[in-house]
Amino acid sequence: MPKFISLYNNKGGVGKTTLSLFFSDFLASITINKKRSKVLVIDFDPQGSSSNAILGIAAVSDIKNSNLTLPHAICEKNKGKDIEINDYVFSRDEKEDFKTRKTKLGKLDVIISSPEFINEFEENSTLNKSLKLSNWLKEQLSDDYDFIFIDLPGNISKRNGFSLIGAFLTDYFIIPTELNRININAIPLTLQILDNIKEWGGERNKYELLGFVLNKADKRSKQYKLHIDELSQFANMKECKVFKCVLPPTPKLSNATDDSIENFTLSDKYDSYYPNVRSLVLEVIKDLGYSLKKKSVAS
Ligand SMILES: Nc1ncnc2c1ncn2[C@@H]1O[C@H](COP(=O)(O)OP(=O)(O)OP(=O)(O)O)[C@@H](O)[C@H]1O
Ligand SMILES: [Mg+2]
Repeated sequence: MPKFISLYNNKGGVGKTTLSLFFSDFLASITINKKRSKVLVIDFDPQGSSSNAILGIAAVSDIKNSNLTLPHAICEKNKGKDIEINDYVFSRDEKEDFKTRKTKLGKLDVIISSPEFINEFEENSTLNKSLKLSNWLKEQLSDDYDFIFIDLPGNISKRNGFSLIGAFLTDYFIIPTELNRININAIPLTLQILDNIKEWGGERNKYELLGFVLNKADKRSKQYKLHIDELSQFANMKECKVFKCVLPPTPKLSNATDDSIENFTLSDKYDSYYPNVRSLVLEVIKDLGYSLKKKSVAS
């Protein structure tokens, strides 16, 4: 069974998409039990940032023209059509490192988003429809992947029936946040939304909140020292943790998701930032029961 993971915060621009891409990139490049792990990203954000970052704008545009997007699949299924979700899955190919002849940057699959068809679906959506469609997606995808990342937009309410499908799919939520007053103030609403999702999902669609990941953080900064205790209190209240590994701010990040740059390995791609990504992903997946030896981790 794949693990369905969402990096979610109601607040915009905190790194939901960026971290989903880090996690999926990294996990697609490692072996678990001697098998290259299989990773899928499902883009639930109509802005399509993760779709573009994985496949590039030109490929995404072609796929949109062929109507092979997630909102289209959902709309058709909702109308009772027979849909094969695999027809909507597209791949970023594995990259080969020509110097070592080793494949390093893993194959990554994505189901892309688009603004079209979301309104059509949401005009008559109900919680029950979102639940049914989420369970349908889960069944369709169950055998194929080890990890499935769901990139959600910030707003999730009863009116966002489309995003709710992604929220109901989630087994594990992680909250990326920055440590400053504005972000701390946004946490209660994010927790409230996660509580709503739990209530609306009922018994069948349970999830676990793993904890908070600090993005653009500097442990020596005044902001960090000022706000870390408050964040820890939220974590205690929700019986989850603040992950020890943080991601520092980096101007290099824009290159990390630039599809026009050819990278063959994770360390090509993330450069001096790579150890941060590596440590964070390893810390998080340990909580999912994976304790990886150094050998299985590509660089
Ligand atoms: N650690 C970092 N250092 C520097 N820039 C970062 C870092 N993390 C994210 N960014 C940048 O911040 C911006 C917002 O990040 P991102 O799109 O991942 O946020 P988001 O939470 O998905 O936003 P949205 O709510 O719009 O979906 C992006 O331009 C991204 O490149
Ligand atoms: Mg995003």
